[in-house]
Amino acid sequence: MRFDVLTLFPEMVEGPLSTSILGRGREAGLFEVGCHDLRAHGLGRHKVVDDTPYGGGSGMVMRVDVVDAALATVRRPESRVLLTEPSGRRFDQAMARELAACPHVVIICGHYEGIDARVREHLVDDCVSIGDYVLTGGEYAAMVIVDAVARLLPGVLGNEGSLAEESFTRPGLEYPHYTRPRTYRGWEIPEVLVSGNHGRVAAWREEAARARTRAIRPDLALPEPEAPPKSRRAARRTGNDGARDLPTKAHTVATAADLDGSALPTESLDATPGEALRRGAGPPPPQAAHDAAPTPQVRATLDEDAPSE
Ligand SMILES: C[S@@+](CC[C@H](N)C(=O)[O-])C[C@H]1O[C@@H](n2cnc3c(N)ncnc32)[C@H](O)[C@@H]1O
Repeated sequence: MRFDVLTLFPEMVEGPLSTSILGRGREAGLFEVGCHDLRAHGLGRHKVVDDTPYGGGSGMVMRVDVVDAALATVRRPESRVLLTEPSGRRFDQAMARELAACPHVVIICGHYEGIDARVREHLVDDCVSIGDYVLTGGEYAAMVIVDAVARLLPGVLGNEGSLAEESFTRPGLEYPHYTRPRTYRGWEIPEVLVSGNHGRVAAWREEAARARTRAIRPDLALPEPEAPPKSRRAARRTGNDGARDLPTKAHTVATAADLDGSALPTESLDATPGEALRRGAGPPPPQAAHDAAPTPQVRATLDEDAPSE
């Protein structure tokens, strides 16, 4: 796959897209990026690329003839040509997947007051916005688009398993991740993650992802599956289906009453202290995790896990 970015500031785009995972992907030939200076197609000795708006008003507008000339140097029959615009279609993971299937994507970056509207009307396939705010230029939008699309291409990510589970690929948000140290400033990780029981870990992650989606992005939440009454009773009897380890900010342990999912503390899930305060929840108790004494089962897991740290 190839991306071509048309911009007045190619150096803004070239650096970030040559770094880290994308830089390695480009070096390995997994995809190509060309950054082209629109000014090379500017008019006259001064390479003029913009002019004052017809009808008056503030700011400068980028010229259609300059953009057209630049586009002609990169466009191919199979190209998908995008114009970055705050008024464009909102970029999201679905669009990233759509673009990853294209052999060639061209991205035009506006600047100043924007680009002559005839570019949108006659020269491009789509207008794309990366959110409801106004940037100084389309370069940031181009980088966001290239990054989100390129990481979906085969081989670009070291671990492609990440793609299958991450937010917006599976419905809703991804479950939270933890790594060493196991305890930091009294902040614990969910015990189920060191239980060594893959089934329990998978079930915890599934429910944590659901709970997190309900709390942070209810607009993405799927309807809850109907739990068969028998298994709900069984869960209450055993008192442990992993729900007790669902992540809360202070890692307070869910009670047995939470196990049917109805009383899970979703409001506090993944809320930052600032978010909790804004919601009027008050600051989380800093020592809550310390105060919860580990059960014998948890203690055994702690002991098992200790040497590997
Ligand atoms: C200052 S903006 C122009 C804003 C324009 N006058 C308006 O009110 O919609 C200059 C350029 O930045 C880019 N840009 C700004 N915000 C953007 C966004 N949210 N998504 C994509 N591109 C954006 C576009 O390429 C745009 O032409």
